[in-house]
Amino acid sequence: MSVSAAQKHNRIQLLTAVLMIVMLSSYFAYTSLKNNLPPPPPEAMYRSKDVPTMERVTDLLSYMSLEEKIGQMALVEKNSLRAVEDISAYGLGALLSGFGGRPEDNSPAGWKTMVETFTSAARSSRLGIPILYGIDAIHGHSNIPGATIFPHFIGLGASGDATLVENVARATANELLATGVRWSYSPTYDMPEDIRWGRVYETFSDDPVLVSKLGSAYIRGLQKAQGQRAGTSSQVMVLATPKHYLGAGGMLWDTSSNENFKIDQGLTPEDEAKLREQYLPPFKKAIETGALSVMAGLNSWGDTKIAASSYLITTVLKAELGFKGFVVSDWYGVYEIPGSDYEAAVTAINAGVDVVMLPFDYQDFVRNVRRAVRRGDIPEERINDAVQRILTAKFELGLFDNDTTRDISEIGSPEHRALAREAVAKSLVLLKNDARLLPLRRTTATIRVAGSAADNIGRQTGAWTVEWQGIDGNWLPGATSILAGIKEAAPPGTTVEFDSGAYFPENSPKAAVGIAVVGEAPYAEGWGDTPIPSLTEEDRATIERLRAASEVVVVVLVTGRPLFITNEIKDWDAVVVAWLPGSEGAGVADVLFGKRPFTGKLPLPWPRTTEQLPITGSATADGTNPLFLRYYGLGI
Ligand code: GLC
Repeated sequence: MSVSAAQKHNRIQLLTAVLMIVMLSSYFAYTSLKNNLPPPPPEAMYRSKDVPTMERVTDLLSYMSLEEKIGQMALVEKNSLRAVEDISAYGLGALLSGFGGRPEDNSPAGWKTMVETFTSAARSSRLGIPILYGIDAIHGHSNIPGATIFPHFIGLGASGDATLVENVARATANELLATGVRWSYSPTYDMPEDIRWGRVYETFSDDPVLVSKLGSAYIRGLQKAQGQRAGTSSQVMVLATPKHYLGAGGMLWDTSSNENFKIDQGLTPEDEAKLREQYLPPFKKAIETGALSVMAGLNSWGDTKIAASSYLITTVLKAELGFKGFVVSDWYGVYEIPGSDYEAAVTAINAGVDVVMLPFDYQDFVRNVRRAVRRGDIPEERINDAVQRILTAKFELGLFDNDTTRDISEIGSPEHRALAREAVAKSLVLLKNDARLLPLRRTTATIRVAGSAADNIGRQTGAWTVEWQGIDGNWLPGATSILAGIKEAAPPGTTVEFDSGAYFPENSPKAAVGIAVVGEAPYAEGWGDTPIPSLTEEDRATIERLRAASEVVVVVLVTGRPLFITNEIKDWDAVVVAWLPGSEGAGVADVLFGKRPFTGKLPLPWPRTTEQLPITGSATADGTNPLFLRYYGLGI
């Protein structure tokens, strides 16, 4: 029987109305269920800061509805909030800025206002549980133009200096506190075995001993104010998050679960011996240092996504190592676990994930988890355990008790920039210095500077700087380029000429020294996965032109990782690795001109050929010697 168009139209209208009623009733049912509970008495024990943390946690938990508990487990990207009121309506536990997720006004004041808006919305909820706001402050408060941009971790790893690293972390914490941000997804504990990975520069080293030392220093710097000892009951300033648990950096090439990538988010071979000897010790040390959150990686341990691994999270991290903080999953990682959203959430939470970086649909998440508890797919004890861990961190941060702030003048302060400049100088590694060309003589008459990274702040800061993928170009307020540093440091009698392509006047006299500052354009995560990390044709041609225009050439590599330079290095008189130095490019000239010594050492081996990859420690895949061993570095 044919149904007339009018009848069809009426049926669609009826269906739409029914759907709306169902959705609205489930929303109001959800909120009314939660909100018909009375507020706790003003004298409730959890509100008193004189009560020990664990007693406050237990007391607060006793007031919480199931929905409020589940809300605390949700980590939402701030642009995915449908309304600020949802923070209170859903009792959301945490928000984050996906990198580049900034306020309209991307200034310190704009950030402070944005975070305060979310904080006060959380305080208006029935129980007034404060919200945690997290960002990736992996080399300073680097979302904000004008903040101090410290060297990326690979440079700090080259410094090997734990005191310096702790000071860098503390300066970063003070810049974060000036905008109300109390949580950073750092330090990275990944240990890269394959330089083709796009996240090598985010790591300290492939050596677990150095990672343990510098990672703990960074946690102390983030979490403890100057003079406070780690592990004391004193307040946590900014919550550190050692990441990515576990075995990130050991993934195999061409195993990525992301179709756009080759090794990032790939498969780390299951290897119990390596787990115990290499991957686990740094996290053990991090827990001893007072870490209260750990991020699970997007890689797999064999054929199991880390966020789905009850063995790694519950058996090893929590039970065996005694981790009492919370485990947060990485971006959308839970939903990459095979199965429906419901099944994935059940698997991850039962495996031990406490906070789910959704980061988008919190309504779906809360509905699914509530249903799972009601059906017995997730034991309520597991929810209580997760929330207990979350609340412990929030009480230890003092979020219930006071605002820990810093003056906005901390951001990009001269002291922090001086510290960053010192870090740059200590990160430089001297690989070659024929005829003791460096440090440059004060009598050098002419220096010619060239190269894609000489006058390009975006290249020296790398990614995770205002934009997730960084910005290639000269644009960051308050920053100093490497070229500007060279001009500033050159003695009065020295002429400095610059041309990025080394196109100097034909037949003009050769300069005494050429300095080629060359290297990688910014990239983040898997977008930096590349089969043969090397200089661009453009940079190689620039070096050749500079060699023709100078008596001797110093090559300064601005790079997030070792590059294949085996065939070219023989033609270069001196070679310096500057890694990704950040905003204070003058630190490079400080060492080139001898104001500071070369002290940096390679934090990981420098391969000679692609056949040597992956390199684990000093063992190359093909058994030959790398171009430079880990910890190589000439000193002068
Ligand atoms: C990213 C990264 C992780 C970062 C998180 C939040 O995908 O894997 O290191 O902390 O998302 O930006």
